[in-house]
Amino acid sequence: MNVLRRAWGWFDDRTGLPGPVGELLRHPVPPGIGWPRVLGSATLAVFILQVLTGTALATVYIPATDSVYDSLVFISREATLGRVIRGMHFYGASAMMILVTLHTIRVFVSGNYKYPREMNWITGGFLIVVTFMMAYTGQLLRWDNHSIWSTLVAIRHIGHAPFIGEWLGQFVLAGDRITGATLSRAFAFHVFFLPAVLFTFIGLHLFLLIRNGSSEPADKEILAEPETYRQEYEELVEREGLPFWPFAAWRDAVFALGVFAVIIILALVFGPQELSIPPDPAVPIPEPRPDWYFLWYYAIFAVLPYEIARFAYVLVPLLSMVFLFSLPFFAGRGERHPLRRPWIIGVTIFGIALVLGFQEAGRRAHWAPEIAVDPLPAEVVGATEGPVYEGAILFHENGCLACHAIEGNGGQFGPDLSNTGTELTIGEMSNVILNGVSGMPAYQNLLTREEVDLLLTFLQSRQE
Ligand code: HEC
Repeated sequence: MNVLRRAWGWFDDRTGLPGPVGELLRHPVPPGIGWPRVLGSATLAVFILQVLTGTALATVYIPATDSVYDSLVFISREATLGRVIRGMHFYGASAMMILVTLHTIRVFVSGNYKYPREMNWITGGFLIVVTFMMAYTGQLLRWDNHSIWSTLVAIRHIGHAPFIGEWLGQFVLAGDRITGATLSRAFAFHVFFLPAVLFTFIGLHLFLLIRNGSSEPADKEILAEPETYRQEYEELVEREGLPFWPFAAWRDAVFALGVFAVIIILALVFGPQELSIPPDPAVPIPEPRPDWYFLWYYAIFAVLPYEIARFAYVLVPLLSMVFLFSLPFFAGRGERHPLRRPWIIGVTIFGIALVLGFQEAGRRAHWAPEIAVDPLPAEVVGATEGPVYEGAILFHENGCLACHAIEGNGGQFGPDLSNTGTELTIGEMSNVILNGVSGMPAYQNLLTREEVDLLLTFLQSRQE
C-alpha cells in the first residue's frame, strides 16, 4: 500500500496531472441532466472502440490489390479473434453512424447550438462529415466484388453531377478506374488522414464542452442572450450544480457499456458482412448497394428523374451542410424549448421522413446491371440472319445488354446505345470494348477478333 501511495505521489509530483484531471472529471454540471445526454459520449466511446479494433485489423490487412482479398479471408476465417474483431468494427461503424445522427438530432431539437455554444455545434458538424467519410472509405477497404461494384455504381452516380462530378469521381478512384491506387488512397484516408482530423476535432469539441459548460436542461432554461446568459448560467451552476463524475457520468458509462455489449453480441452471433467473390469487374453483381446507412443517398438516382437527380446528388449534402453550419448564425438567440420553437419539430420530422422514404426506395431500387435481360426483339435488331443479327446475339450473350439499353430494351447502368452508330466511330467503340472504361469491363481477353467485329457491325447498324 505504502509503495503504491509513494508511486502515486511521485507521479503526481513529476507530471502534475492528477489534480487537473480530477478537477475536470468533477467539473460542475447543471442539475437534471438526463439520458438523452449520453448520445455524444457514447459516440466517443464507440469511436475509441473503432480505433482499437481498426488498429488490430490493420496489423493483418494488406492494402495491395494482389493480396488484399486473401488478407480479408484470413482475418475472417483464420486469424485469432479475427472474425469477431472484424464484426465489431463492422457493427461499430453502424453504431457510430446511428449515435452521431441521434446526438445531432438531440442537440438540434433542444436548441443547444445557440449562444454561447455555436462553435460546439460547428466542430460537431465537421465531426459528422468526417464520420461519413470514414464509413465510406471503410466500405471500400472491404475489397470484394460487392464492395468494388457498389463503388463503381457510386462513381457513376457522382460522375453525372454537374461541374465537379467527373473530378470527384477521379478523386475517389485516384484515376479513371478502380486500381491499386484506389485502394491505397482509401486506406490512407481511412487509417491516417481522417482519424487524425477526427481526433483533432474531438479534442476541440470536448474543450468547448468544458469551456462553455453543459447546457442546462429545458426546465431550467436560460434565454440564449449574450448580455445575460453566461452570468445566469454561472449562478445556476454555482447554486445547484453537481460534479460531472459521478452524478452525470454514471449514465454515460452505463449506456456506453450497453452499446459495447450490443456490438460484441452482434459480432459474436452474426459475424461481419460475408465476403463476396474476389473483385471482378467482369462479373457485375445483381444489386451492388452500399451498407444500409448510405442507401437513402443512392436512392436519389432511383427515385428522382435523371435531370433532377444529378443536381440533387451534390446539392442535398451541400445544402444540408450549409443549413447546419449556418444554423447558429440565423437562429442562435432566444428560447430553446422545442415546444416554443415548433418549426424545429416540423423540420426534424420532415427530414427524418424524407430520409426514411428514400431509404425504403433504395432497398427496392434497381440501378444495377439487369442480370436477366431478354434478348433483343427481332424488330429492334432489324435482321434475322447475317452479321448484324449475330452481333445482336453476342451483345446479349456477353452481358452488354445488361448494362446498355437499345430502344428501351436492356439495363440502364451504362449509356443508351440506340444511336451509337451515329455517335461513335468504329475506332472509339472498339477501344471501349477492348480496353473497358470505368464501370465497364475490358473484353479483350473475353472475345475473339471475329466476335468483336460482329459486335461492331451490330453497333454500327444502330443509326438514328
Ligand atoms: C457492367 C456494365 C457494362 C457491361 C457489361 C458493358 N458495358 Fe459498355 N459501358 C458501360 C459503362 C458504364 C459505359 C460508360 C463509361 C463512361 O464513359 O462513363 C460503357 C460504355 C460503352 C460504350 C461507349 C458509349 C459512349 O457513349 O461512350 C460502348 C460502345 C459500349 N460500352 C459497348 C459495350 C459492349 C459492346 C459491351 C459487351 C461486349 C458492353 N459495353 C458491356 C457499362 C457496361
